[in-house]
Amino acid sequence: MSIIKSIHVLCALLSISGFIYRGILKLTRPEKLTQKWLKITPHIIDTVLLASAIYLVLASHYYPTLFNWVTVKIIALVLYIILGLFTLRFCKSQAGVLISFILALTTFSYIVFVARTKLIWFL
Ligand code: HEM
Repeated sequence: MSIIKSIHVLCALLSISGFIYRGILKLTRPEKLTQKWLKITPHIIDTVLLASAIYLVLASHYYPTLFNWVTVKIIALVLYIILGLFTLRFCKSQAGVLISFILALTTFSYIVFVARTKLIWFL
Protein backbone atom coordinates (compact mmCIF):
# COMPACT_ATOMS: atom_id res chain seq x y z
CA MET A 1 0.00 0.00 0.00
CA SER A 2 1.43 3.38 -0.93
CA ILE A 3 2.18 5.84 1.85
CA ILE A 4 -0.50 8.26 0.57
CA LYS A 5 -3.12 5.48 0.62
CA SER A 6 -2.09 4.69 4.21
CA ILE A 7 -2.46 8.37 5.12
CA HIS A 8 -5.86 8.41 3.37
CA VAL A 9 -7.08 5.35 5.31
CA LEU A 10 -5.63 6.69 8.59
CA CYS A 11 -7.42 10.02 8.09
CA ALA A 12 -10.67 8.16 7.32
CA LEU A 13 -10.27 6.27 10.61
CA LEU A 14 -9.47 9.44 12.55
CA SER A 15 -12.38 11.23 10.89
CA ILE A 16 -14.96 8.60 11.86
CA SER A 17 -13.50 8.16 15.37
CA GLY A 18 -13.72 11.92 15.96
CA PHE A 19 -17.24 12.01 14.56
CA ILE A 20 -18.39 9.14 16.80
CA TYR A 21 -16.84 10.91 19.82
CA ARG A 22 -18.54 14.22 18.98
CA GLY A 23 -21.84 12.47 18.20
CA ILE A 24 -21.81 10.78 21.61
CA LEU A 25 -20.93 14.09 23.30
CA LYS A 26 -23.81 15.78 21.46
CA LEU A 27 -26.20 13.13 22.81
CA THR A 28 -24.82 13.07 26.36
CA ARG A 29 -22.87 16.24 27.22
CA PRO A 30 -23.41 18.79 24.40
CA GLU A 31 -21.76 21.63 26.38
CA LYS A 32 -18.41 19.84 25.90
CA LEU A 33 -18.63 20.30 22.13
CA THR A 34 -17.51 23.92 22.39
CA GLN A 35 -13.90 22.89 23.19
CA LYS A 36 -11.53 24.51 20.71
CA TRP A 37 -9.62 21.35 19.73
CA LEU A 38 -12.89 19.59 18.88
CA LYS A 39 -13.66 22.36 16.41
CA ILE A 40 -10.23 22.65 14.77
CA THR A 41 -8.90 19.06 14.57
CA PRO A 42 -11.72 17.64 12.35
CA HIS A 43 -11.03 20.34 9.73
CA ILE A 44 -7.35 19.43 9.60
CA ILE A 45 -8.09 15.68 9.35
CA ASP A 46 -10.77 16.15 6.68
CA THR A 47 -8.53 18.44 4.62
CA VAL A 48 -5.76 15.80 4.60
CA LEU A 49 -8.37 13.10 3.81
CA LEU A 50 -9.61 15.03 0.79
CA ALA A 51 -6.14 16.08 -0.38
CA SER A 52 -4.98 12.44 -0.25
CA ALA A 53 -8.17 11.39 -2.10
CA ILE A 54 -7.40 13.86 -4.90
CA TYR A 55 -3.80 12.61 -5.06
CA LEU A 56 -5.00 8.96 -5.22
CA VAL A 57 -7.45 9.74 -8.02
CA LEU A 58 -4.74 11.43 -10.07
CA ALA A 59 -2.07 8.81 -9.31
CA SER A 60 -4.28 5.76 -9.82
CA HIS A 61 -6.14 7.17 -12.86
CA TYR A 62 -9.40 6.01 -11.26
CA TYR A 63 -11.26 9.05 -12.55
CA PRO A 64 -14.90 9.75 -11.72
CA THR A 65 -16.96 8.87 -14.79
CA LEU A 66 -20.73 9.12 -15.16
CA PHE A 67 -21.51 6.52 -12.54
CA ASN A 68 -18.51 4.59 -11.32
CA TRP A 69 -17.33 3.92 -7.76
CA VAL A 70 -15.27 7.14 -7.55
CA THR A 71 -18.33 9.29 -8.43
CA VAL A 72 -20.47 7.36 -5.97
CA LYS A 73 -17.82 7.80 -3.28
CA ILE A 74 -17.81 11.58 -3.80
CA ILE A 75 -21.63 11.74 -3.65
CA ALA A 76 -21.67 9.56 -0.51
CA LEU A 77 -18.98 11.77 1.07
CA VAL A 78 -21.14 14.87 0.48
CA LEU A 79 -24.10 13.04 2.05
CA TYR A 80 -21.93 12.02 5.04
CA ILE A 81 -20.87 15.68 5.53
CA ILE A 82 -24.50 16.89 5.37
CA LEU A 83 -25.67 14.20 7.83
CA GLY A 84 -22.74 15.14 10.08
CA LEU A 85 -23.88 18.77 10.05
CA PHE A 86 -27.40 17.69 10.98
CA THR A 87 -26.05 15.52 13.81
CA LEU A 88 -23.71 18.08 15.33
CA ARG A 89 -25.31 21.39 14.43
CA PHE A 90 -28.81 21.57 12.94
CA CYS A 91 -30.83 18.93 14.80
CA LYS A 92 -32.31 20.22 18.02
CA SER A 93 -34.15 17.12 19.28
CA GLN A 94 -32.42 14.02 20.68
CA ALA A 95 -34.36 11.82 18.24
CA GLY A 96 -33.25 13.94 15.27
CA VAL A 97 -29.61 13.82 16.41
CA LEU A 98 -29.78 10.06 16.90
CA ILE A 99 -31.39 9.39 13.50
CA SER A 100 -28.94 11.58 11.55
CA PHE A 101 -26.04 10.13 13.57
CA ILE A 102 -27.04 6.57 12.61
CA LEU A 103 -27.58 7.57 8.97
CA ALA A 104 -24.14 9.27 8.88
CA LEU A 105 -22.48 6.13 10.29
CA THR A 106 -24.32 3.98 7.74
CA THR A 107 -23.19 6.27 4.92
CA PHE A 108 -19.60 6.10 6.17
CA SER A 109 -19.75 2.29 6.23
CA TYR A 110 -21.05 2.36 2.68
CA ILE A 111 -18.10 4.57 1.61
CA VAL A 112 -15.67 2.03 3.11
CA PHE A 113 -17.53 -0.79 1.32
CA VAL A 114 -17.23 1.08 -2.01
CA ALA A 115 -13.54 1.88 -1.35
CA ARG A 116 -12.71 -1.77 -0.58
CA THR A 117 -14.74 -3.51 -3.29
CA LYS A 118 -14.99 -0.82 -6.01
CA LEU A 119 -18.61 -1.91 -6.30
CA ILE A 120 -21.44 0.55 -5.88
CA TRP A 121 -24.02 -2.05 -5.06
CA PHE A 122 -23.91 -5.27 -3.07
CA LEU A 123 -24.48 -7.56 -6.06
C1 HEM B 1 -15.10 9.40 4.19
C2 HEM B 1 -14.52 9.36 3.03
C3 HEM B 1 -13.59 8.27 2.55
C4 HEM B 1 -13.28 7.04 3.11
C5 HEM B 1 -13.82 6.42 4.40
C6 HEM B 1 -12.37 6.38 2.21
C7 HEM B 1 -11.80 5.13 2.42
C8 HEM B 1 -10.86 4.53 1.63
C9 HEM B 1 -10.22 3.26 1.88
C10 HEM B 1 -10.53 2.35 3.09
C11 HEM B 1 -9.36 3.02 0.85
C12 HEM B 1 -8.45 1.80 0.69
C13 HEM B 1 -9.15 0.76 -0.16
C14 HEM B 1 -8.29 -0.47 -0.35
O1 HEM B 1 -7.13 -0.37 -0.78
O2 HEM B 1 -8.77 -1.56 -0.08
C15 HEM B 1 -9.45 4.14 -0.06
C16 HEM B 1 -8.73 4.25 -1.23
C17 HEM B 1 -8.99 5.20 -2.18
N1 HEM B 1 -9.85 6.28 -2.09
FE1 HEM B 1 -10.92 6.78 -0.45
N2 HEM B 1 -12.13 7.21 1.12
C18 HEM B 1 -12.86 8.36 1.30
C19 HEM B 1 -12.95 9.41 0.42
C20 HEM B 1 -12.50 9.38 -0.88
C21 HEM B 1 -12.89 10.28 -1.94
C22 HEM B 1 -13.86 11.44 -1.79
C23 HEM B 1 -12.23 9.87 -3.07
C24 HEM B 1 -12.30 10.42 -4.46
C25 HEM B 1 -12.46 11.66 -4.77
C26 HEM B 1 -11.42 8.75 -2.72
C27 HEM B 1 -10.60 8.08 -3.59
C28 HEM B 1 -9.85 6.95 -3.29
C29 HEM B 1 -8.93 6.30 -4.22
C30 HEM B 1 -8.66 6.70 -5.67
C31 HEM B 1 -8.39 5.20 -3.52
C32 HEM B 1 -7.32 4.23 -4.04
C33 HEM B 1 -7.98 3.02 -4.62
C34 HEM B 1 -6.96 1.94 -4.94
O3 HEM B 1 -5.83 2.26 -5.26
O4 HEM B 1 -7.33 0.77 -4.84
N3 HEM B 1 -11.61 8.47 -1.38
N4 HEM B 1 -10.38 5.04 0.43
